[in-house]
Amino acid sequence: MIVANWKMIGSLQANMELVQAILKHYRHRSNIRCVLCPPSIYLPQLQALLKHSPLLLGAQNVSEIAQGARTGEIAASMLKEFACQYVLVGHSERRQYAAETDEQILAKCLQAHHHDLTPILCIGETLEQRTQGRTFEVIAKQLTSVLPLIKNEPTAEVVIAYEPVWAIGTKMAASPEEVQTVHHWIRQHIAQLNGPAAQNLTILYGGSVQPDNAKALFAMPDIDGGLVGRASLHADDFIGIISCITSL
Ligand code: PGA
Repeated sequence: MIVANWKMIGSLQANMELVQAILKHYRHRSNIRCVLCPPSIYLPQLQALLKHSPLLLGAQNVSEIAQGARTGEIAASMLKEFACQYVLVGHSERRQYAAETDEQILAKCLQAHHHDLTPILCIGETLEQRTQGRTFEVIAKQLTSVLPLIKNEPTAEVVIAYEPVWAIGTKMAASPEEVQTVHHWIRQHIAQLNGPAAQNLTILYGGSVQPDNAKALFAMPDIDGGLVGRASLHADDFIGIISCITSL
């Protein structure tokens, strides 16, 4: 699975050109899911552009409540109306700039699930937490946001994106071996609650994924794909990353 996180970047014109360029070179394989997550205001545009294409649509955030007095927020039911199938939840930029807590992130995951959207839960430690040797403690806490879903609804689909904060937006991707260790730990952690769900769980890596490091990352047994920021805004790079999966 490859997920493009466009963050707060784009315009009507640029989005159209990017999607057209991606679709021109995209070779679909039914066992690979490719999801584009534009800024929410462009979801209707992307819904139209992706119609009849194999690319799927996702949002970057969802409200923690079903509807009501939450100025500026967007409900899961609204995302669903614009053909979203996925939603990023708890991205580190939202944890940092919107002060999202694990409790809110849990509520967002439940909202998404309730409206038949698959939450892509983003987790990851900061550089400071890593140097203090707290990586597993931090991600264990962040993972609690999906545990009720995995425990109480064993068939609920969730995707985990491990994104070490220090690797996002830098040139410093984590090494494939480091990522594999963490992904393996995540799968074991989930397996304690639900063995079959852990086996089928999609665990993505995010943080400076580029065409030149993607293949080694995706070759690892517990890395099931990538959450891609900057490189997803350049059709050549994005297609290059997707072909790293298809050529494995
Ligand atoms: P990056 O961003 O690929 O630009 O490092 C990844 C992300 O924030 O999801």
